[in-house]
Amino acid sequence: MEKSIIYPNCDFTIWFRSVNENNITETPIEGKTTGIIPNWINGCLYQNGPGLLDVTGKRVQHLFDAFSLIQKFTIKNGHVTYQNRILQSDAYKQAYKTGRSCYSEYGTSKYQDKSDSYNNKHESVSSLSWFLTRIQQLFHFKNDFRTDNALISIYPYKIKNDKIGLFAMTETPIMHEIDSKTIETCSKFNVSEHLPIVSHCAHAVILNDGTILNVGLASSLTGMNYVLFEFPGFSNSNNEDNLMNQCKTLTKIPSRWPFNPSYMHTFAVTDNYIILVEQSLCISLAQLIQLTITHGPMTDALVWHENEPVRFRLINRHTMIEYNDYTYLSSAFFFLHIINAYEDNNHLVIDICCYDNADMLECMTIEALENAQENPDYYKQFRGRPKRFVLPVGMNEDDENFNGLDYTTCEIKLIDRKKLWIEPEIIVDLGCELPQIEYFRFYGKFYRFFYAINSEVDYKYCGALRKIDILSKTCQIWHETGCYTSEPIFLRNPSDETGEEDEGVLIMSLLRSNHENEVSLLILNAQTMTEMGRVEFNTNGPVPKCLHCLWIDSINE
Ligand SMILES: [Fe+2]
Repeated sequence: MEKSIIYPNCDFTIWFRSVNENNITETPIEGKTTGIIPNWINGCLYQNGPGLLDVTGKRVQHLFDAFSLIQKFTIKNGHVTYQNRILQSDAYKQAYKTGRSCYSEYGTSKYQDKSDSYNNKHESVSSLSWFLTRIQQLFHFKNDFRTDNALISIYPYKIKNDKIGLFAMTETPIMHEIDSKTIETCSKFNVSEHLPIVSHCAHAVILNDGTILNVGLASSLTGMNYVLFEFPGFSNSNNEDNLMNQCKTLTKIPSRWPFNPSYMHTFAVTDNYIILVEQSLCISLAQLIQLTITHGPMTDALVWHENEPVRFRLINRHTMIEYNDYTYLSSAFFFLHIINAYEDNNHLVIDICCYDNADMLECMTIEALENAQENPDYYKQFRGRPKRFVLPVGMNEDDENFNGLDYTTCEIKLIDRKKLWIEPEIIVDLGCELPQIEYFRFYGKFYRFFYAINSEVDYKYCGALRKIDILSKTCQIWHETGCYTSEPIFLRNPSDETGEEDEGVLIMSLLRSNHENEVSLLILNAQTMTEMGRVEFNTNGPVPKCLHCLWIDSINE
């Protein structure tokens, strides 16, 4: 008898698609076009995400542990091709060669053989020497127990004056350069060899001049620090062979809890501030040291503090000094992605895809995904909402109304002499994830629209794409039964630089239930959220669902 399922409109098996060396699509393939692919769209859509779940013969335990698959659509004068390749990380190559998980992943332990056990027993004889060894392992850049499986995102770094390099990234600071044409893995760049960090955000911020900002974690005698650092942009004219070697520290901000820094996947930048959101999910340094012995998964070091508020930290971009006139706090929440942030009349506005707690990370274990259709609570654990937080800055002491913005209902209360409690506005009562805006025009600026995939598994159009109008609090969707869109990228016709905010197209990939060896490129009119065209590809093997995308115009290739 067939089992009844709780979420009939959601196909969780889409996450279990897994490729291997024999069925990837290395050579670009042609597809079948319907509708119109506008001629002004010329460039490449790159995608990164979990692609291989069972290289060792045993499935990984968390979706974030599957080995990275890089996918690419090339678009030229209305003609589109598709290709994919496995990222050749050391973690993947060794797992492939040995049939064992050789690195600690996000939710999967490193395989340990008998000699490891022997060494552990041997080492436990001297607890002091053990402790010092572990500390050294943890903070030395040559520590090699954590993965280099960079499956989260792709960013364009300026590697020479005349060349941009694409780098696959994850939260360990080891990035892999991929060839922009063939998507082969070319080289490895370990940020820790240049800056003393142990991790960094998987999402950097690209400024308009090409400078890339990021935030890492580093230790000091007094505890952990958030390290703000940057890679050179286009204005840099130094002739050094690899400009990435010029990455430099901008400032260090001490974690509010010295031995429990907050987990940070993203941060935000406005004209004058860098905003760090110290959320209630923290990394326990004690657990992290323990992991150097157990080689357990990173999730063992994450601790949720439900009674601890989130704290917003503002760093002045000109002085690199933290703004300390107020401490900004809000009820505990978990987040991965910030939608956007901007300054408006002595306020900082920051919009975040928030969850009440960090259960959604548990929802992405392979076991949870496999059992989701029988779990009546799954939809609650995965329930997030986009929320708007307003942080007043530079206000007069006698100002009583902390929120002077009439277009948001965010409430701000003075709870102590210098402490402000922020009660956010729910932007829309809908689940949104992988949010995107028109990045280079509106990042860090006042904006009205964002685009995101639906994140509610009990929604009737589970794979839908949402367009949110923040001011009118309305939502338009695009959906097709049994289809799942990727993160969308907004593109504007270069001849229409001053058009309306939503005047352009959304470009994304599309997967279909029960059609494993198929992927489409989909183009929507962003104003009307209607389909303009698509190209359907029949691939050599399964096409897994990606996490994040990058668009590179052909002029920048
Ligand atoms: Fe992300």
